Amino acid sequence: MSARSRDLPRRSCLSTPASSERFLAKAPTVSADMTFLDLEDSVAPLEKVAARAKAVDAVKNLSWDDRVLCVRVNAWDTKWTYGDVIEVVSGAGERLDEIMLPKVQTAAEVVALDLLLTQVEENAGLTVGHIGIEAQIETTRGLINVDDICAASPRLETIIFGPADFAASMEMPVLTGGVQIPEYPGDHFNYVFSRILMAGRANGLQVIDGPFLLVRELDKLRDFAQRTRILGYDGKWALTPDQAQVLNEVYSPTQEQFDRAHDILDAYRQATEEERRGAVMFGDEMIDEASRKMATKFVTRGLRAGLTRSQTS
Ligand code: GLV
Ligand code: MG
Repeated sequence: MSARSRDLPRRSCLSTPASSERFLAKAPTVSADMTFLDLEDSVAPLEKVAARAKAVDAVKNLSWDDRVLCVRVNAWDTKWTYGDVIEVVSGAGERLDEIMLPKVQTAAEVVALDLLLTQVEENAGLTVGHIGIEAQIETTRGLINVDDICAASPRLETIIFGPADFAASMEMPVLTGGVQIPEYPGDHFNYVFSRILMAGRANGLQVIDGPFLLVRELDKLRDFAQRTRILGYDGKWALTPDQAQVLNEVYSPTQEQFDRAHDILDAYRQATEEERRGAVMFGDEMIDEASRKMATKFVTRGLRAGLTRSQTS
């Protein structure tokens, strides 16, 4: 795993086609927690090989501040995966934090990437284990195997849901992936979101939702993103700078939540350490060890989002 990027925030994960110099040049100016340069589905087959050098050049020569920086390679069922990994990881140097592997169907695919990365790192003079892995679940087989996939390698940092490919894999009668289906009474992805979240958390991974393709509909994005935020996801993909801005807000706790979480931790610490009690009243509410765990999550996420506790609380 990449020690640097593992715990960094990923509220907004900006997708950037590596074949486009224009989009590559713009990407570092977008306020996103994480950026991935894409060699997969946003790059035309005839541009795939040339895009590798553009991705390497962008990683090395653009100013990326301290955000998580990743390259998405092509899936193992194409002819490009090993070439993508060797050329990009050998050329990009230390600033590259991670490789994203799409359409992961079995744990063996993650293991294969892990083994290949070890050899490439050794030959490139990188610390072995430097490159982390982000794995996308976007096929039915991938979802069936998600527990094993999430446990497949210590390099894994995130598990990501890919709604567009997943809808295709399920043969859902939709033409736009990753958006609400008005005719469906409820959330057609609720099971999938929860299933991936449980597998990811059980293995200590960050869990990320994929793209929302109606890029001009920011209110709909805000509304849709609430589903995975409330379940506990860490963030979601952004396809535009405006989407990134919305997601940075959606996946951050509010100042009020952040302050309240601190207050709960203070009250609980006093109860357990000074009064030797495991459950106490906090205002109208009983708090105990589970409350401490919930509050700790808010504090951790708030700190990641740059919040500081209000003086008055
Ligand atoms: C992302 O890759 C998706 O298929 O939704
Ligand atoms: Mg996909």
